[in-house]
Amino acid sequence: MGRAGVTRYAFPDNFLWGVATSAPQIEGGRHEGGRGVSIWDRYADTPGAIADGSHADVACDHFHRWREDIELMRWLGINAYRFSLAWPRILPNGTGAVNAAGLDFYDALVDGLLEAGIEPYPTLYHWDLPQALQDRGGWGERSVVDAFAEYADVVTRRLGDRVRNWTTINEPWCIAVLGHEEGHHAPGHKDPAEGLRVAHHLLLAHGRAVRAIRDAVPGAKIGIVHNHTPAHPATDSHGDTDAARWFDGFFNRWFLDPLFRGRYPADAVADRIASGHLEGPEMHFVQAGDLAAIATPIDFLGVNYYSRVIMSQNVDGRPEAVKAAPDHELTDMGWEVHPEGLHETLLHLHREYGPPEIFITENGAAYDDPPGPDGLIDDVRRIDYLRTHLSAASRAIADGVPLAGYFAWSLLDNFEWAHGYQKKFGLVAVDFDTCERTPKNSAHWYRDAVAANAVDAAATPSTRGDSRVFDSRN
Ligand code: FCB
Repeated sequence: MGRAGVTRYAFPDNFLWGVATSAPQIEGGRHEGGRGVSIWDRYADTPGAIADGSHADVACDHFHRWREDIELMRWLGINAYRFSLAWPRILPNGTGAVNAAGLDFYDALVDGLLEAGIEPYPTLYHWDLPQALQDRGGWGERSVVDAFAEYADVVTRRLGDRVRNWTTINEPWCIAVLGHEEGHHAPGHKDPAEGLRVAHHLLLAHGRAVRAIRDAVPGAKIGIVHNHTPAHPATDSHGDTDAARWFDGFFNRWFLDPLFRGRYPADAVADRIASGHLEGPEMHFVQAGDLAAIATPIDFLGVNYYSRVIMSQNVDGRPEAVKAAPDHELTDMGWEVHPEGLHETLLHLHREYGPPEIFITENGAAYDDPPGPDGLIDDVRRIDYLRTHLSAASRAIADGVPLAGYFAWSLLDNFEWAHGYQKKFGLVAVDFDTCERTPKNSAHWYRDAVAANAVDAAATPSTRGDSRVFDSRN
């Protein structure tokens, strides 16, 4: 118990408390330091692609303000930082010539983090493929696998003396489906057959990179990040239950089964054949040895959890996602707030796949709260989201899940892909005219949770700070 009558959820002594970001969402510096063009630069240049017509050429200007961002993290008291490396900043053409200035940038960032007592958790790929590789077919072409292994080798040989924890790829589902099947993300293709090839090449690239990193970094701890979304049937009818199975098959198991069991899920393959996305029972893009490479053992699974999905069979007999009941809260993304799903997800992944360790590599909520008369952003809904999800995470640890850390998404308001700057996930607000950073009340709340290594189950009295602009001397 914490305060009178309030359950306190404590975390283990060595628990990692972090925040997460990604290069294309915060870095900017598009034309600086020898950086090449990424598919997201090209996509954002396409009229109509980004909801608010924006681009990420400057974004949060982290490229110039990274020292200030490390000070923010130091102030938060966190001991781990998940960020991504921009492939086009390091290999502007995707392969071949290395841009020394790009490696120098991440080298300095890593040193700065370590000096601040913050463990770096870099992700090699968070969606910014060099456009030069896209011009050669991108993730749809098998040669991209060699390119990714080369990139992993270049990066880990340079940073591996100081960075022990490596993540290969962020959310293969989003890349394959949003980028290649539905066209909502770069490169904006609408080709379901290509999406399946892309998913396979991503998994294979991951497996090949695991081997490259192990060669380059003795003692490395390596994982991949999967955005897990539990599927619940709207009713217990056979149709709705099967619709939930269908969703789980392609959203979750299509990626986790190859990684942990070395095979694609047969029912989901049959679903794809039935929908015409595969031409026959064979997946021609799968070559001998691929599944063994994909299932190369890893040290941790990164889990991004935001919400669940409720599935139903529609009148045409097709699976369909349905809206949560009106009394269920939605974030600005339209995603239902469902912390229980995080507890369920963690237990499920532990029991089904048994990764040695699990990290929550992203969890957070988009809410646009304006500053009050005093200039402070009192984002109570975000605090509530974090509090209830951290409570669920703590309960999962008590239930035996080897959950080793939590990374809040995100440190800063940032470029939320096709939504532009309209969806705000940050603990820290960013004024996109001046790039000034201002911790929201949730940042103060998170700082207190980190310091206590615990969260209270019920709302704590306001922890709001008294300085509008971040001051690292606080
Ligand atoms: C995840 C992405 C991350 C961010 C959050 C809101 O799918 O990994 O970059 O956009 O969603």
